[in-house]
Amino acid sequence: MVQIGPSMMCADMSNLKVEMEQLEKGGVDYYHFDIMDGEFVPNFTMGPDLIHRLRKLSSKPFDVHLMVVDPERYIDTFIDAGADMISVHAEATKHLQRTLQSIRDKNILAGVALNPSTPLSVLDYVYEDIDYICIMSVNPGFAGQTFLPTIYKKIEQLKQIINENNYPITIQVDGNMSYETIPKVIDKGANMIVCGTSSIFSTTSSLKDSVQNLQCMINKFSKT
Ligand code: DX5
Ligand code: ZN
Repeated sequence: MVQIGPSMMCADMSNLKVEMEQLEKGGVDYYHFDIMDGEFVPNFTMGPDLIHRLRKLSSKPFDVHLMVVDPERYIDTFIDAGADMISVHAEATKHLQRTLQSIRDKNILAGVALNPSTPLSVLDYVYEDIDYICIMSVNPGFAGQTFLPTIYKKIEQLKQIINENNYPITIQVDGNMSYETIPKVIDKGANMIVCGTSSIFSTTSSLKDSVQNLQCMINKFSKT
């Protein structure tokens, strides 16, 4: 089953409560929060206080994507804010295995995010510590970028590793997930989609309709 989650950095920050109500009505599977520190990526988005305030608006999983240097410093902060899943960038921590373990020790799903140029081999000795892998299909930091086609191969190779080893790991894809790229990444093995300006937040229709139209497309594609 393919899960879709809005990338909340793409939402209207001046109208978040209303937008989340719309997304809830649309039936999103989870919420994706990109946290940026201006150092790991040249941008800033939101912090734990905002996530904490949004927590009471939905019981759906909150997926926090830490695009920050030394993310181990902030695991507890975002768990306290209401995160159910936390992904850290392999490129941003000196101690990936320990960081993943510290997330799991708090009964939170542990994820690794990989920049487009980072090889899958960085995961070789931590697959047992991972619940999901966030494959960046654009360079992290900004919405509205263009999908990097080399990532199709990366997803396919990752799916093969997961299948060969029977790992219970979800493949999440983050970046320019559109009506064109979503079917292709699903076909390669992705089952969790981060939806931003390229899908849920792209249309003039209501967010509720936008979510339902996207789900309809995915269901139709998945049946074929
Ligand atoms: C990049 C961000 C974006 C966002 C999705 O750092 O992760 O990819 O979530 O937005 P679009 O759909 O505009 O890529
Ligand atoms: Zn993200």
